Amino acid sequence: MNTSLAIKHEIDTSYFERKRLEAKYTRYFKSRLDYRQLVTYVPNKKLPVYNWFKYKEGFSRQLVYNILKDEQVSKKDIIFDPFAGCGTTLLTCKEFGYKVVGLDILPLAIFVAEVKLQDWSDLSLLEKAVISLMNVKYRKPKLSLPDVSIIDKAFPKHIQEEILFYKEHILEYEKPIQDFLMLGLISVLESVSYTSKDGQFLRLVEREIPSVKDTLLKQLKNMIDDLYLQQQALFKGGTAKIEILKGDARELSLPIKYWGKIGAVVTSPPYLNRYDYSRTYALELCALFAEDSKYINNIRHSLLRSHIESKVHKGKWISLPAVDEIVQNLKAKELNNNRIPIMIQGYFEDMNLVIKQLVTYLKPGGIVALVVANARFEGEMVPTDLILSELAELNGLKTEKIWITRYKGNSSQQMARYGKVPVRETIVFWRKPL
Ligand SMILES: C[S@@+](CC[C@H](N)C(=O)[O-])C[C@H]1O[C@@H](n2cnc3c(N)ncnc32)[C@H](O)[C@@H]1O
Repeated sequence: MNTSLAIKHEIDTSYFERKRLEAKYTRYFKSRLDYRQLVTYVPNKKLPVYNWFKYKEGFSRQLVYNILKDEQVSKKDIIFDPFAGCGTTLLTCKEFGYKVVGLDILPLAIFVAEVKLQDWSDLSLLEKAVISLMNVKYRKPKLSLPDVSIIDKAFPKHIQEEILFYKEHILEYEKPIQDFLMLGLISVLESVSYTSKDGQFLRLVEREIPSVKDTLLKQLKNMIDDLYLQQQALFKGGTAKIEILKGDARELSLPIKYWGKIGAVVTSPPYLNRYDYSRTYALELCALFAEDSKYINNIRHSLLRSHIESKVHKGKWISLPAVDEIVQNLKAKELNNNRIPIMIQGYFEDMNLVIKQLVTYLKPGGIVALVVANARFEGEMVPTDLILSELAELNGLKTEKIWITRYKGNSSQQMARYGKVPVRETIVFWRKPL
């Protein structure tokens, strides 16, 4: 046999399963590049209340609104977001009068979402609290930050003390005012640090750090201005029920009253991109929740396995030919991190569990809109959207459409070695049959 043909044959078979998936789902694809921005947090940056905490992994209010409208979701239905993050789906539902329940495993996300979703009716009390906090005379704090290595890299000592001074005082206020002030403090931590949230890690940056007092004052003032602006729309409009719970999307975490009652799921799981929320939000977790590095490690291993420190699961793995193919191909390559195959397998195992729970919660005819991105490791494309669609079908859902919203680039390293292949970001729509 001609050698070049033999090589070609080898390459073709090593992509067989993914080619099969692409062929199977071609008819569901629709280009919706007009959603390019809407699948990101960017449009929220300008929106009062939605922008109180920069959650880079979030999507936009407009996206949630469009999906609910386009899919003609009834206001009698209950909407569910199993990966609620900082609450975009919930806040949008609140604004437009839909009943909604959300779940997230990260205490920080729950905290942020809860403060945003509060009915802030008495703004004069908030104003008084901000003024009194800003008038407190500085004294050395008694509290300390946990002994986690990023803290000393992120903040000079005097900034650490200023943060703790404000934390100590904020804790003296009653809830929910305490939470409002604490969110103000949490949301300025990055700007008073030497760090910048950058993909997988906190990147260290050189810059002049402003005082915590000035930054916090500005943030709290903006938050109060937002409430004056948005009060009518967000907090006096609907009487729809809103609930947010801390829990694991892989488990049956929703109370039984919701089972079989969910009309629409609008969500976005962590992407298979190695990003680790426990690292990205380490400063905020340390300032508010963590007592030591063990706490951060526990959070890391409680998250969906989309990051490189994901552990092998002892449970039963349902074999998916496309995942097996990717893992097998990767194992034959020299990887810059040999945990990548473990992460990929863990990701789909976990998402299989998530989908199972969604099937329990959805009512017949209910729809899932899931924003997700594909990934590429050492030249191996992972068509997450299609693998998940096949998983959804194995669990009894029906794929309705797949909207292509963006094509992402590749890392320069990957492009140099394997060429440039755009990586899809999509919204997949699945429905539970009637
Ligand atoms: C892409 S973000 C969602 C952002 C959200 N759409 C927004 O606009 O704020 C994914 C979320 O999944 C959460 N998460 C990770 N593992 C989880 C799990 N096992 N159960 C529930 N939530 C989880 C993360 O904490 C993160 O907030």
